[in-house]
Amino acid sequence: MTDTLPRAAEEEILQQIASAVHRGLTSYPKWLPPWLFYDAEGSRLFERITELPEYYLTRTERGILTQHAREMILRATGRSQLRIAELGAGSADKTRLLLAAAVENQGAVMYEPLDVSDSALAAARKRIEEEIPGVTVAPRHGNYTMGLDLAPIRNGERRLVLHIGSSIGNFDTEDATQLLLLVRAGLDPGDSLLLGVDLVKDEATLVAAYDDAAGVTAAFNRNVLVRLNREQAADFNPESFAHRAVWNPAESRMEMHLESLVQQSVRVGALDLNVEFAEGERIHTENSYKYRPGQAEAMLHATGFEPRATWTDEQGWFAVCLGEAL
Ligand code: AVI
Repeated sequence: MTDTLPRAAEEEILQQIASAVHRGLTSYPKWLPPWLFYDAEGSRLFERITELPEYYLTRTERGILTQHAREMILRATGRSQLRIAELGAGSADKTRLLLAAAVENQGAVMYEPLDVSDSALAAARKRIEEEIPGVTVAPRHGNYTMGLDLAPIRNGERRLVLHIGSSIGNFDTEDATQLLLLVRAGLDPGDSLLLGVDLVKDEATLVAAYDDAAGVTAAFNRNVLVRLNREQAADFNPESFAHRAVWNPAESRMEMHLESLVQQSVRVGALDLNVEFAEGERIHTENSYKYRPGQAEAMLHATGFEPRATWTDEQGWFAVCLGEAL
């Protein structure tokens, strides 16, 4: 899988993948975890999604960060030196705004991106070290939902953890709460968390963002099957599954599914598993929760953070909240 990971960590990730795929494809309804999207090709497709005209999330959050990065950094820093960690390396593009503001404020900054995708980490490191002198990148490979595993902090330093890009939206309320509790457990009082959440808006805008005209999101969704073919010796025909993006108002979330266009049987060799699909049967591949104003702050409060500030765009489409660990 990668030559940069210790063997035990690599095996643990492979084990997590195998067990999630087995559970998901033997459940009814069938599901797959959204973190499976991010192999090298999935990460590349996601980068393309963030540039699509329909996918308003990235540019809206970028606009908020462009306008307020300096204030966010100053608030998180207080009288200390800041160290920045990020859950999900994602596109270094938006993080760069915060890192540049930190370098401007304190001369140099340590940046620790955590991600399951080795390729995303390598790309983030290259881009950031090349483009922002003063940033030292210390990538951490792994699934951050298992724990933060950050380098110990030095005296006089404060940590700022970034969970931007609406990544929290891919967790249901219970898992999101668990994740924030886990982040809180890895922090000291006075450290902070910057959380980016997508807000509820009209259905047409939401659906278009997850079902773009160029079909990039459809390719991103189907790529999970290509990954299972390669890594789990499966024999999915990705073209026999249609991409479906649906707004679920009761749950306040966008859902992505892969719908079998025919009745078919799929073999997953590595799991010694045959999976039967009825025509029209779906695999639920992703939820993307959309928050109401005040909801993210309430969640921060419930998990040991004091919400200090919220920044939003003019249309009220996206919010970035700063919580201070109590
Ligand atoms: C990474 N995550 C916040 C994206 C989202 O909007 O939920 C993933 C994505 N799925 C489809 N398009 C983008």
